[in-house]
Amino acid sequence: LWNETGKRIGLLAASKVLVVSNRKVHGLYGPALEQSLVNVGIKYQKILIPDGEPFKILATVEKILDRLVGGGFDRDAIVIALGGGVIGDIAGFAAAAYMRGIRVVQIPTTLLSQVDSSVGGKTGVNHPKGKNLIGAFHQPSLVIADVVTLKTLPTDEVLCGVAEVIKYGCISSKQFFLYLEKNIGQLVSLDPVVTAKTVNTSCQIKAAVVASDEREAGLRATLNFGHTVGHALEAVTGYKRYKHGHAVAIGMRAAAELSQLKGRIDEKEKERIKNLIEVAGLPVQIPESLTTDALMAAMGQDKKVSRGVIRFVLLDGIGSCSVVDDVSVKEIAESIRLSR
Ligand SMILES: NC(=O)c1ccc[n+]([C@@H]2O[C@H](COP(=O)([O-])OP(=O)(O)OC[C@H]3O[C@@H](n4cnc5c(N)ncnc54)[C@H](O)[C@@H]3O)[C@@H](O)[C@H]2O)c1
Repeated sequence: LWNETGKRIGLLAASKVLVVSNRKVHGLYGPALEQSLVNVGIKYQKILIPDGEPFKILATVEKILDRLVGGGFDRDAIVIALGGGVIGDIAGFAAAAYMRGIRVVQIPTTLLSQVDSSVGGKTGVNHPKGKNLIGAFHQPSLVIADVVTLKTLPTDEVLCGVAEVIKYGCISSKQFFLYLEKNIGQLVSLDPVVTAKTVNTSCQIKAAVVASDEREAGLRATLNFGHTVGHALEAVTGYKRYKHGHAVAIGMRAAAELSQLKGRIDEKEKERIKNLIEVAGLPVQIPESLTTDALMAAMGQDKKVSRGVIRFVLLDGIGSCSVVDDVSVKEIAESIRLSR
Protein backbone atom coordinates (compact mmCIF):
# COMPACT_ATOMS: atom_id res chain seq x y z
CA LEU A 1 0.00 0.00 0.00
CA TRP A 2 3.00 2.34 0.06
CA ASN A 3 2.11 3.91 -3.25
CA GLU A 4 -1.42 4.55 -2.01
CA THR A 5 -0.14 5.85 1.34
CA GLY A 6 1.39 9.09 0.06
CA LYS A 7 -1.68 9.81 -2.09
CA ARG A 8 -4.12 9.29 0.78
CA ILE A 9 -2.05 11.39 3.15
CA GLY A 10 -1.78 14.03 0.43
CA LEU A 11 -5.58 14.34 0.49
CA LEU A 12 -5.35 15.55 4.09
CA ALA A 13 -3.59 18.68 2.80
CA ALA A 14 -1.41 19.00 5.90
CA SER A 15 0.66 22.12 6.51
CA LYS A 16 3.45 20.01 7.98
CA VAL A 17 4.02 16.33 8.73
CA LEU A 18 5.81 14.74 11.69
CA VAL A 19 6.51 11.01 11.43
CA VAL A 20 6.83 9.28 14.81
CA SER A 21 8.46 5.85 14.87
CA ASN A 22 11.22 3.86 16.53
CA ARG A 23 14.58 2.79 15.14
CA LYS A 24 13.49 -0.81 14.48
CA VAL A 25 10.28 -0.10 12.58
CA HIS A 26 11.71 2.95 10.88
CA GLY A 27 14.68 0.88 9.69
CA LEU A 28 12.24 -1.56 8.08
CA TYR A 29 9.52 0.71 6.68
CA GLY A 30 10.66 4.32 7.07
CA PRO A 31 12.30 4.53 3.62
CA ALA A 32 9.15 3.20 1.88
CA LEU A 33 6.89 5.63 3.76
CA GLU A 34 9.20 8.52 3.11
CA GLN A 35 9.49 7.72 -0.59
CA SER A 36 5.71 7.60 -0.89
CA LEU A 37 5.46 11.01 0.80
CA VAL A 38 8.21 12.48 -1.37
CA ASN A 39 6.44 11.11 -4.48
CA VAL A 40 3.46 13.34 -3.81
CA GLY A 41 5.62 16.30 -2.81
CA ILE A 42 5.13 16.05 0.95
CA LYS A 43 7.98 17.29 3.10
CA TYR A 44 8.19 15.72 6.51
CA GLN A 45 10.18 15.70 9.71
CA LYS A 46 10.69 12.64 11.82
CA ILE A 47 11.31 11.76 15.44
CA LEU A 48 12.47 8.32 16.53
CA ILE A 49 11.57 7.34 20.08
CA PRO A 50 12.95 4.41 22.08
CA ASP A 51 11.25 1.06 21.49
CA GLY A 52 9.09 -0.61 24.10
CA GLU A 53 6.35 -0.32 26.69
CA PRO A 54 8.70 1.20 29.36
CA PHE A 55 8.93 4.30 27.13
CA LYS A 56 5.16 4.69 26.86
CA ILE A 57 5.37 7.51 29.38
CA LEU A 58 4.70 11.23 29.55
CA ALA A 59 8.40 12.07 29.12
CA THR A 60 8.28 10.59 25.60
CA VAL A 61 5.13 12.56 24.76
CA GLU A 62 6.92 15.70 25.95
CA LYS A 63 9.78 15.05 23.53
CA ILE A 64 7.30 14.82 20.65
CA LEU A 65 5.52 17.99 21.82
CA ASP A 66 8.87 19.81 22.05
CA ARG A 67 9.52 18.81 18.47
CA LEU A 68 6.11 20.05 17.32
CA VAL A 69 6.58 23.38 19.10
CA GLY A 70 10.21 23.75 18.00
CA GLY A 71 9.34 22.91 14.39
CA GLY A 72 6.58 25.52 14.25
CA PHE A 73 3.84 22.98 13.55
CA ASP A 74 0.40 24.61 13.36
CA ARG A 75 -3.15 23.33 13.73
CA ASP A 76 -3.22 22.03 10.15
CA ALA A 77 -0.21 19.80 10.69
CA ILE A 78 -0.48 16.02 11.04
CA VAL A 79 1.34 13.39 13.04
CA ILE A 80 1.96 10.01 11.41
CA ALA A 81 2.41 7.08 13.78
CA LEU A 82 4.49 4.35 12.10
CA GLY A 83 4.75 1.28 14.33
CA GLY A 84 2.89 -0.96 16.75
CA GLY A 85 0.41 -0.09 19.46
CA VAL A 86 3.03 1.59 21.63
CA ILE A 87 3.98 4.09 18.92
CA GLY A 88 0.31 4.57 17.97
CA ASP A 89 -0.80 5.27 21.54
CA ILE A 90 2.05 7.70 22.26
CA ALA A 91 1.92 9.57 18.94
CA GLY A 92 -1.89 9.65 19.05
CA PHE A 93 -1.80 11.19 22.51
CA ALA A 94 0.80 13.79 21.50
CA ALA A 95 -1.46 14.72 18.56
CA ALA A 96 -4.49 14.89 20.89
CA ALA A 97 -2.68 17.21 23.27
CA TYR A 98 -0.86 19.50 20.83
CA MET A 99 -2.87 22.69 20.33
CA ARG A 100 -5.84 20.80 21.82
CA GLY A 101 -5.73 18.32 18.99
CA ILE A 102 -4.16 18.01 15.57
CA ARG A 103 -4.84 15.19 13.12
CA VAL A 104 -3.14 11.83 13.41
CA VAL A 105 -2.62 9.13 10.80
CA GLN A 106 -2.04 5.62 12.09
CA ILE A 107 0.13 3.25 10.08
CA PRO A 108 0.05 0.15 12.29
CA THR A 109 2.76 -2.46 11.68
CA THR A 110 1.85 -5.18 14.22
CA LEU A 111 -1.15 -7.48 13.94
CA LEU A 112 -2.40 -6.23 17.31
CA SER A 113 -2.26 -2.61 16.21
CA GLN A 114 -3.87 -3.41 12.84
CA VAL A 115 -6.83 -5.25 14.36
CA ASP A 116 -7.18 -3.28 17.56
CA SER A 117 -5.23 -0.28 18.82
CA SER A 118 -5.09 1.81 15.61
CA VAL A 119 -8.89 1.84 15.40
CA GLY A 120 -11.19 3.37 17.99
CA GLY A 121 -9.32 6.46 19.09
CA LYS A 122 -7.94 5.45 22.48
CA THR A 123 -4.55 7.09 22.91
CA GLY A 124 -2.37 7.51 25.95
CA VAL A 125 0.55 6.52 28.12
CA ASN A 126 1.25 4.64 31.33
CA HIS A 127 1.68 6.10 34.83
CA PRO A 128 4.00 4.44 37.37
CA LYS A 129 0.80 3.42 39.22
CA GLY A 130 -0.88 1.76 36.27
CA LYS A 131 -1.12 1.10 32.54
CA ASN A 132 -2.89 3.55 30.23
CA LEU A 133 -3.96 5.80 33.12
CA ILE A 134 -3.26 9.00 31.17
CA GLY A 135 -4.83 9.54 27.79
CA ALA A 136 -7.45 10.95 25.49
CA PHE A 137 -9.98 9.80 22.96
CA HIS A 138 -8.65 11.04 19.64
CA GLN A 139 -9.86 9.39 16.45
CA PRO A 140 -7.36 8.97 13.61
CA SER A 141 -8.05 10.81 10.35
CA LEU A 142 -6.74 7.82 8.43
CA VAL A 143 -5.56 4.29 9.22
CA ILE A 144 -3.44 2.39 6.71
CA ALA A 145 -2.89 -1.24 7.65
CA ASP A 146 -0.65 -3.03 5.17
CA VAL A 147 -0.49 -6.73 6.05
CA VAL A 148 2.80 -7.09 4.17
CA THR A 149 4.53 -5.26 7.04
CA LEU A 150 3.63 -8.15 9.35
CA LYS A 151 6.12 -10.46 7.60
CA THR A 152 8.96 -9.11 9.77
CA LEU A 153 7.04 -9.48 13.03
CA PRO A 154 8.20 -12.16 15.51
CA THR A 155 5.68 -15.03 15.90
CA ASP A 156 4.99 -14.20 19.54
CA GLU A 157 3.90 -10.70 18.49
CA VAL A 158 1.71 -12.15 15.73
CA LEU A 159 0.03 -14.35 18.35
CA CYS A 160 -0.77 -11.32 20.52
CA GLY A 161 -2.84 -9.99 17.63
CA VAL A 162 -4.40 -13.40 17.01
CA ALA A 163 -5.72 -13.42 20.60
CA GLU A 164 -7.60 -10.16 19.99
CA VAL A 165 -8.93 -11.53 16.70
CA ILE A 166 -10.32 -14.63 18.43
CA LYS A 167 -11.89 -12.25 20.94
CA TYR A 168 -13.87 -10.52 18.17
CA GLY A 169 -15.24 -13.84 16.95
CA CYS A 170 -16.26 -14.85 20.48
CA ILE A 171 -18.02 -11.62 21.40
CA SER A 172 -19.52 -10.49 18.17
CA SER A 173 -19.63 -12.83 15.19
CA LYS A 174 -20.23 -16.56 15.06
CA GLN A 175 -19.56 -16.45 11.33
CA PHE A 176 -16.11 -14.93 11.93
CA PHE A 177 -15.44 -17.51 14.66
CA LEU A 178 -16.21 -20.28 12.15
CA TYR A 179 -13.91 -18.61 9.63
CA LEU A 180 -11.13 -18.57 12.21
CA GLU A 181 -11.69 -22.23 13.10
CA LYS A 182 -11.14 -23.06 9.43
CA ASN A 183 -8.26 -20.66 8.77
CA ILE A 184 -6.35 -20.23 12.02
CA GLY A 185 -3.23 -21.97 10.64
CA GLN A 186 -3.10 -19.64 7.65
CA LEU A 187 -3.63 -16.63 9.88
CA VAL A 188 -0.78 -17.56 12.20
CA SER A 189 1.48 -18.10 9.19
CA LEU A 190 0.28 -14.76 7.76
CA ASP A 191 -1.23 -15.98 4.52
CA PRO A 192 -1.90 -12.63 2.82
CA VAL A 193 -5.53 -13.31 1.80
CA VAL A 194 -6.56 -14.71 5.20
CA THR A 195 -4.68 -11.96 7.06
CA ALA A 196 -6.23 -9.16 5.00
CA LYS A 197 -9.73 -10.59 5.47
CA THR A 198 -9.06 -10.98 9.20
CA VAL A 199 -7.80 -7.41 9.63
CA ASN A 200 -10.74 -6.10 7.62
CA THR A 201 -13.37 -8.03 9.61
CA SER A 202 -11.73 -7.20 12.94
CA CYS A 203 -11.69 -3.47 12.13
CA GLN A 204 -15.33 -3.60 11.06
CA ILE A 205 -16.31 -5.26 14.33
CA LYS A 206 -14.28 -2.86 16.46
CA ALA A 207 -15.43 0.20 14.51
CA ALA A 208 -19.07 -0.80 14.90
CA VAL A 209 -18.70 -1.19 18.67
CA VAL A 210 -16.80 2.09 19.05
CA ALA A 211 -19.23 3.97 16.80
CA SER A 212 -22.06 3.09 19.12
CA ASP A 213 -20.16 3.75 22.35
CA GLU A 214 -16.99 5.78 21.83
CA ARG A 215 -16.36 6.58 25.49
CA GLU A 216 -17.05 3.17 26.97
CA ALA A 217 -20.32 3.91 28.71
CA GLY A 218 -21.52 0.39 27.95
CA LEU A 219 -21.05 -1.66 24.79
CA ARG A 220 -17.37 -0.79 24.31
CA ALA A 221 -16.63 -2.63 27.55
CA THR A 222 -17.43 -5.89 25.71
CA LEU A 223 -14.06 -5.47 23.98
CA ASN A 224 -12.57 -6.37 27.36
CA PHE A 225 -13.60 -10.04 27.00
CA GLY A 226 -10.82 -12.08 28.59
CA HIS A 227 -9.18 -8.98 30.02
CA THR A 228 -10.37 -9.25 33.65
CA VAL A 229 -8.36 -12.40 34.36
CA GLY A 230 -5.81 -11.41 31.68
CA HIS A 231 -4.91 -8.16 33.44
CA ALA A 232 -4.73 -9.97 36.79
CA LEU A 233 -2.26 -12.48 35.30
CA GLU A 234 -0.11 -9.63 33.97
CA ALA A 235 -0.26 -7.76 37.29
CA VAL A 236 0.65 -10.69 39.57
CA THR A 237 3.61 -11.55 37.35
CA GLY A 238 4.88 -7.96 37.32
CA TYR A 239 4.13 -7.50 33.59
CA LYS A 240 7.20 -9.64 32.84
CA ARG A 241 6.05 -13.21 32.32
CA TYR A 242 3.19 -12.73 29.85
CA LYS A 243 2.79 -10.72 26.74
CA HIS A 244 -0.59 -9.00 26.86
CA GLY A 245 -2.13 -11.22 24.15
CA HIS A 246 -1.00 -14.39 25.88
CA ALA A 247 -2.56 -13.23 29.16
CA VAL A 248 -5.78 -12.35 27.31
CA ALA A 249 -5.81 -15.82 25.73
CA ILE A 250 -5.81 -17.46 29.16
CA GLY A 251 -8.31 -14.84 30.34
CA MET A 252 -10.68 -15.72 27.48
CA ARG A 253 -10.52 -19.37 28.46
CA ALA A 254 -11.33 -18.43 32.09
CA ALA A 255 -14.20 -16.21 30.93
CA ALA A 256 -15.50 -19.11 28.81
CA GLU A 257 -15.36 -21.38 31.88
CA LEU A 258 -17.26 -18.75 33.86
CA SER A 259 -19.81 -18.38 31.06
CA GLN A 260 -20.42 -22.12 31.19
CA LEU A 261 -20.65 -22.10 35.00
CA LYS A 262 -23.34 -19.44 34.69
CA GLY A 263 -25.22 -21.59 32.18
CA ARG A 264 -24.72 -19.10 29.34
CA ILE A 265 -22.81 -21.43 27.03
CA ASP A 266 -22.60 -25.22 26.93
CA GLU A 267 -19.60 -27.51 27.32
CA LYS A 268 -19.22 -27.92 23.55
CA GLU A 269 -19.06 -24.17 22.92
CA LYS A 270 -16.53 -23.72 25.70
CA GLU A 271 -14.36 -26.50 24.29
CA ARG A 272 -14.46 -24.92 20.83
CA ILE A 273 -13.20 -21.63 22.23
CA LYS A 274 -10.46 -23.29 24.26
CA ASN A 275 -9.50 -25.39 21.26
CA LEU A 276 -9.26 -22.44 18.87
CA ILE A 277 -7.00 -20.57 21.30
CA GLU A 278 -4.80 -23.65 21.74
CA VAL A 279 -4.58 -24.48 18.04
CA ALA A 280 -3.47 -20.91 17.40
CA GLY A 281 -0.50 -21.64 19.66
CA LEU A 282 -1.67 -19.48 22.57
CA PRO A 283 -1.70 -20.58 26.24
CA VAL A 284 -4.97 -21.60 27.94
CA GLN A 285 -3.85 -22.61 31.42
CA ILE A 286 -3.42 -20.64 34.62
CA PRO A 287 -0.25 -21.98 36.25
CA GLU A 288 -0.59 -23.53 39.73
CA SER A 289 2.14 -21.17 40.97
CA LEU A 290 -0.20 -18.16 40.63
CA THR A 291 -2.58 -18.46 43.56
CA THR A 292 -6.28 -17.80 43.30
CA ASP A 293 -6.02 -15.31 46.19
CA ALA A 294 -3.34 -13.28 44.41
CA LEU A 295 -5.33 -13.24 41.17
CA MET A 296 -8.55 -12.21 42.96
CA ALA A 297 -6.71 -9.40 44.76
CA ALA A 298 -5.30 -8.14 41.46
CA MET A 299 -8.78 -8.23 39.87
CA GLY A 300 -10.09 -6.07 42.70
CA GLN A 301 -7.53 -3.38 41.85
CA ASP A 302 -8.15 -3.31 38.13
CA LYS A 303 -9.32 0.00 36.70
CA LYS A 304 -12.19 -1.84 35.04
CA VAL A 305 -13.70 -2.53 38.45
CA SER A 306 -16.83 -0.42 38.70
CA ARG A 307 -17.87 0.77 42.19
CA GLY A 308 -16.17 -2.16 43.88
CA VAL A 309 -17.83 -4.80 41.66
CA ILE A 310 -15.66 -7.00 39.46
CA ARG A 311 -17.21 -6.89 36.01
CA PHE A 312 -16.92 -9.73 33.55
CA VAL A 313 -17.72 -9.95 29.88
CA LEU A 314 -19.49 -13.29 29.57
CA LEU A 315 -20.66 -15.07 26.45
CA ASP A 316 -24.28 -15.78 25.61
CA GLY A 317 -23.20 -18.29 22.99
CA ILE A 318 -20.37 -17.93 20.49
CA GLY A 319 -20.68 -14.53 18.83
CA SER A 320 -22.65 -12.69 21.48
CA CYS A 321 -21.91 -11.44 24.97
CA SER A 322 -22.98 -9.24 27.90
CA VAL A 323 -21.20 -7.25 30.59
CA VAL A 324 -22.13 -8.89 33.86
CA ASP A 325 -21.53 -7.88 37.47
CA ASP A 326 -23.50 -10.54 39.33
CA VAL A 327 -20.59 -12.94 39.52
CA SER A 328 -19.78 -14.23 43.02
CA VAL A 329 -16.27 -14.55 44.40
CA LYS A 330 -16.92 -18.31 44.62
CA GLU A 331 -17.78 -18.51 40.92
CA ILE A 332 -14.68 -16.55 39.92
CA ALA A 333 -12.51 -18.81 42.08
CA GLU A 334 -14.12 -21.88 40.51
CA SER A 335 -13.50 -20.62 36.98
CA ILE A 336 -9.84 -20.08 37.90
CA ARG A 337 -9.65 -23.64 39.27
CA LEU A 338 -11.20 -25.03 36.09
CA SER A 339 -8.68 -23.07 34.01
CA ARG A 340 -5.64 -24.65 35.67
N1 LIG B 1 -5.37 2.23 21.91
C1 LIG B 1 -5.97 1.08 22.02
O1 LIG B 1 -7.18 0.94 21.81
C2 LIG B 1 -5.15 -0.12 22.39
C3 LIG B 1 -5.69 -1.41 22.26
C4 LIG B 1 -4.88 -2.50 22.54
C5 LIG B 1 -3.58 -2.30 22.93
N2 LIG B 1 -3.08 -1.03 23.06
C6 LIG B 1 -1.68 -0.80 23.45
O2 LIG B 1 -0.86 -1.31 22.41
C7 LIG B 1 0.42 -1.62 22.96
C8 LIG B 1 0.89 -2.94 22.42
O3 LIG B 1 1.01 -2.82 21.02
P1 LIG B 1 1.81 -3.90 20.17
O4 LIG B 1 1.41 -5.24 20.59
O5 LIG B 1 1.69 -3.50 18.74
O6 LIG B 1 3.32 -3.76 20.72
P2 LIG B 1 4.54 -2.81 20.30
O7 LIG B 1 4.09 -1.53 19.73
O8 LIG B 1 5.44 -2.76 21.49
O9 LIG B 1 5.26 -3.66 19.16
C9 LIG B 1 5.84 -4.89 19.50
C10 LIG B 1 7.31 -4.96 19.00
O10 LIG B 1 7.31 -5.18 17.60
C11 LIG B 1 8.11 -4.20 16.95
N3 LIG B 1 7.51 -4.03 15.63
C12 LIG B 1 6.46 -3.29 15.28
N4 LIG B 1 6.15 -3.50 14.00
C13 LIG B 1 7.05 -4.40 13.53
C14 LIG B 1 7.24 -5.03 12.28
N5 LIG B 1 6.40 -4.83 11.26
N6 LIG B 1 8.26 -5.90 12.14
C15 LIG B 1 9.09 -6.18 13.20
N7 LIG B 1 8.95 -5.62 14.41
C16 LIG B 1 7.93 -4.74 14.57
C17 LIG B 1 8.02 -3.01 17.87
O11 LIG B 1 9.07 -2.11 17.64
C18 LIG B 1 8.09 -3.69 19.22
O12 LIG B 1 9.41 -4.01 19.55
C19 LIG B 1 0.26 -1.58 24.48
O13 LIG B 1 0.88 -0.44 24.98
C20 LIG B 1 -1.25 -1.51 24.69
O14 LIG B 1 -1.60 -0.80 25.85
C21 LIG B 1 -3.85 0.04 22.78
